[in-house]
Amino acid sequence: MDSSQTLLQGKSRDDSSDYHKLSGILDYEIKDNEICLNFKHASLAIKFLTADIFRVVMAHSGQKINYKSTDAVIEHNLTYDDFIFTEKDSELIIKTDKLVLKLKKENFLLQVFNQQGELIHQDHSQYALGWKKQKVRAWKSFEQAQRFYGLGEKTGWLDKKGRLYEMWNHDTFLPHVSDTDPLYQSIPFLIAFNPQNSYGIYFDNSYKSFFDLGSEGQDYFSFWAEGGDLDYYFVNGPSLKEVVSKYSQITGTMPLPPKWSLGYHQSRYSYYPQAEVEQLLKTFRDKEIPCDAFHFDIHYMDQYKIYTWDEDRFPDPEAMFAEMEENGIKAVTIIDPGVKTDPEYKLYQQGMENDYFCKYLDGRVFIDKVWPGSCAFPDFTQSKVRDWWAGLQKDYTDLGVKGIWNDMNEPAAFNKTDTMDVEVMHQNDGDAGTHRRFHNLYGFLEDKATFEGLKESLNNERPFVLTRAGFAGIQRYSAVWTGDNRSFWDHIKLAMPMLMNMGLSGITFCGTDVGGFTGNSNGELLTRWTQMGAFVPFFRNHCEVRAISQEPWSFGEKYEKIIKKYIELRYKFITHIYNLFYQASQTGIPLMRPLIMEFPNDRECQNLSDQFMVGDSVLVAPVYQPDKDKRMLYLPEGKWIDYWTKEVYQGGKHLIVDAPLEKMPIFIKAGSILPLNDKLNYIGEKEIECLEMNIFLNEENNLGNYQLYDDDGLSYNYENGVYNITEFKYQYTDNQIIFNIDRKEQNYQQEFKDYKMIFNNLNKDPLNIYVDGNQLSEFSYSDNRLEFKVPVVINKITIELS
Ligand code: GLC
Repeated sequence: MDSSQTLLQGKSRDDSSDYHKLSGILDYEIKDNEICLNFKHASLAIKFLTADIFRVVMAHSGQKINYKSTDAVIEHNLTYDDFIFTEKDSELIIKTDKLVLKLKKENFLLQVFNQQGELIHQDHSQYALGWKKQKVRAWKSFEQAQRFYGLGEKTGWLDKKGRLYEMWNHDTFLPHVSDTDPLYQSIPFLIAFNPQNSYGIYFDNSYKSFFDLGSEGQDYFSFWAEGGDLDYYFVNGPSLKEVVSKYSQITGTMPLPPKWSLGYHQSRYSYYPQAEVEQLLKTFRDKEIPCDAFHFDIHYMDQYKIYTWDEDRFPDPEAMFAEMEENGIKAVTIIDPGVKTDPEYKLYQQGMENDYFCKYLDGRVFIDKVWPGSCAFPDFTQSKVRDWWAGLQKDYTDLGVKGIWNDMNEPAAFNKTDTMDVEVMHQNDGDAGTHRRFHNLYGFLEDKATFEGLKESLNNERPFVLTRAGFAGIQRYSAVWTGDNRSFWDHIKLAMPMLMNMGLSGITFCGTDVGGFTGNSNGELLTRWTQMGAFVPFFRNHCEVRAISQEPWSFGEKYEKIIKKYIELRYKFITHIYNLFYQASQTGIPLMRPLIMEFPNDRECQNLSDQFMVGDSVLVAPVYQPDKDKRMLYLPEGKWIDYWTKEVYQGGKHLIVDAPLEKMPIFIKAGSILPLNDKLNYIGEKEIECLEMNIFLNEENNLGNYQLYDDDGLSYNYENGVYNITEFKYQYTDNQIIFNIDRKEQNYQQEFKDYKMIFNNLNKDPLNIYVDGNQLSEFSYSDNRLEFKVPVVINKITIELS
């Protein structure tokens, strides 16, 4: 079947055939880093940010090209004009240091080649770019072998191919099943993967948009929006890691979070009164179950009015927070954007007096029902409103609150459309538009205001913000949780590809409600969910108001013991996890990764949706079905070491491994180095004096390294250089291991005093060990495991082998 037949087949939700399309190029102009092309009813700018990131903006129907970006795009000064331009009879050719772009003159078509002349990407031959009234649309060719990742918080498998996805932030309380769409976040960033030439497309348009990844036609994919401009960025890889990293040059990386926020969080809708919170605190500490944060859901408020306290339930929040803080637990309070329309309520008065709320064009304030009843909604597109909101954070931080959980910020409203009327206006500092344009940015802008307010009021401490709604770039301000999941086994399974794709879409700090939000959890489900949660970036147990309790001890000792073990495991891995957060803050590469990111040439990994990597060395295979004591999993090529038994496995195949309730399969890639630390009840409980450096040796002639970042985990002092970077490297030859420690940056007074060196999978007897040339007398060696302690100040260890 040819492509035209495919395109015309049936009526899709947005029929391609009714669009106006770009005709032939009439003329063009080259200005600095861009090429501007004119067509009969349209114009197009191709603007280079780097040699392999370029932006395409279309104007149509007499409009001028609009270079204004959404708030997702960071201020950058990326510009590249070092290209060579050639005109041929039928095409214009632009050659950068990395790519060759060909623009067909007659029936406009953009093609992108790599330097070897391989075609990486091209517009679909029949349509390319087009518009239909306010709608703008792009059609791209694709090969069936290509895989699609990204798109943020979406249901389904890792590979998003074959379905139509909608970008429209939505409070989706109904069960999230395999094809539920949309959910709460809109991240219009798509990755087209193929092992040699992956690329990404970021569609910078905040209107309701769609990505059809082959559901309408077999040989093209397409994206469109109901308004705004066709404005997208092409981000070349060629590797998946490069695509993700380069995308972060456009929408930013997440800043380093406070380390405590990487610990375990306990939540429910809602813990109250104060005595219950105090009891909860006592139970965690009595049972020595690690915990770093409690979340306060809506019942802490007076009639659900934000920034108020129900004084009967919480007579003295300040004293309660002080006690929590003393015990190492941080308070995170929920905030919804709706402001109750109560004339005696300070916030409502302020909002009305200063014109802070969203209004219709005729001046009526938009009012709808949320938890407090009738509410008005702050217009976060205005900087004066964001400043007001930012200032409110101090009311809470003065009491001792350390984090804000922004919920219902799609915004949710209990009317038929579940959200704000799309005709409501947003003032946007003089560039006003309707809610159609700003809906997907509403939560994002609230989070921005919250983050900036917290940053200001927490005096040099890093804020923690958690959000439900968001748009591309949300990582700059907030962690994201995936909203109202259910206590279903299927929701452990669903969470994995969703979180992996969120990570690939810039959102490193993400997680699901462990145990499930709606419905009753049970011991086995909570145990399995906690096992996975321990390796997911954001680790919070949360459930809804009607659900039975699901704290770690709620289902009896058998489960409690295992749940505790896995929460402890999270803390054992915390140095490594924090280090991966640091890497994400530098490169945009997430810590929770699909295997395909580490093993791009392994076909088995292309749609592997039920196991994931934590960094580049730890493979986690959660159990997501009841009554299982085995799990099938896939180990890519190479040797792998079972974290629990230290047994060595040959990869490149599927395995069925034991996974009784107390065991979630975890494998470490042979050759890697992994720092692990002692048990902690909370971050900062005590100094980690001894850091375990676990070396998982591969066979001989093997090299390994690990770069460890370290700072105080709380302040912004790192911005002034107060941090350490230490590089650990080893070389394993047939008769020795040489291990080097290189302190590359050393400006922070490090807490570790010693390293406990553990060489796993060493199958030759160690004869002599020298530490900076001095012979070490104390070490132990058994079961292929060599252990000894050295002070952190040393530089070199030599182990002579038999
Ligand atoms: C929403 C949130 C949920 C919260 C509840 C009450 O459903 O998604 O996490 O507990 O509102 O505030």
